[in-house]
Amino acid sequence: MTGGPLLGPDTQPAILVSVTGWQPDPWAKALADYMPGRTILKTDVHGGFSGDLGPLQMVHHVLAWAPNGDLWPLLPQIRAIYSLGAGVEHILSSPGIPDVPIIRIVDPDLTGRMAEYVVWQVLDHHRRGAAYRRNQHRRVWHELPQPPASDVGVGILGLGEIGLACADILSRLGFNVRGWSRTKKSYPGITCFHGPVALPEFLSETDIAVAMLPLTPETAGLLNTTLFQNLRQNGPLEGPVLINAGRGGSQVEADIIKALDDGILAGASLDVFGAEPLPPESPLWSRPDIFVTPHCAAASDPVVLCRSIANQIRRVEAGQTPQNIVDQNRGY
Ligand code: NDP
Ligand code: OXD
Repeated sequence: MTGGPLLGPDTQPAILVSVTGWQPDPWAKALADYMPGRTILKTDVHGGFSGDLGPLQMVHHVLAWAPNGDLWPLLPQIRAIYSLGAGVEHILSSPGIPDVPIIRIVDPDLTGRMAEYVVWQVLDHHRRGAAYRRNQHRRVWHELPQPPASDVGVGILGLGEIGLACADILSRLGFNVRGWSRTKKSYPGITCFHGPVALPEFLSETDIAVAMLPLTPETAGLLNTTLFQNLRQNGPLEGPVLINAGRGGSQVEADIIKALDDGILAGASLDVFGAEPLPPESPLWSRPDIFVTPHCAAASDPVVLCRSIANQIRRVEAGQTPQNIVDQNRGY
């Protein structure tokens, strides 16, 4: 049933799950379990709402992933929008978005899964996973050079909730960890850089670049030829590598391919893409030097994440300031 209430009529403010490309039902169901008795409405997987429009008037809270802009004018009582993910560009780009707080996910479950993905990929590049898989396929018994982790510079672009968690684990594994952010930071064991002027210096000792950036006008297209050329070209690995688990809009995919062809990059692990799903004709699929995953670095578990969304809704309704409000001018 699309659009109709999940639970019976009720006098409390209603909640709408407004999604495009994500299944709404697991979110509506999980939230209903945390907020029994609430009317929870939902769009279909394409963002369409086909039920009686009347109950939309009662909606105060919208859980959103790429929400359908046509619905905003139908929600006169909206008080807050809750991103179903850590990123919010999919909401900020929705036309006609109402002037209410946007709250994003910050949750140890999501952060932990992202850190797993990043550590998995860093170790795979450091320990030459692709080369050993190739050798195994050819039945070649050959030991490759194994530089100590302390010789390898891992540079994390985006030292926020997730980037910092990755930096912490990688530095405990012994890597030489550097971080780059928009504003100044200082963390023990991490060499910190900030702002565009410091970017070349940050990159100059980076062998494994890990992008954990939100998509904003400043980060769009940042992972391009110039950036790749500035990575350490004579480091302990076969060449520098790129890991991007932030947003695909930050990467120039043609530049990645060219950098790999020119030997400026030695490999890439990409979880996010300019167009998702990655079209079958994309040349990225067939490159042995690119590891492609389908935007799954961290699965968003509705049962886990709706617990914190329900808490945020309760805060808003109690007149308290919710946590993790997005700065809409900054774009993240
Ligand atoms: P945060 O907002 O906590 O951190 C963002 C970091 O990026 C901050 O350190 C920020 O700097 C930095 N940053 C932003 N703009 C710039 C800039 N112009 N120059 C330099 N640094 C910049 O976000 P999270 O860590 O929670 O998440 C990061 C992103 O990861 C999300 O926005 C989302 O796009 C992506 N993501 C992807 C997932 C996946 O499955 N692939 C899952 C979850 C998230 P400062 O600290 O100075 O503000
Ligand atoms: C997120 C994501 O932003 O899943 O959380 O990409």
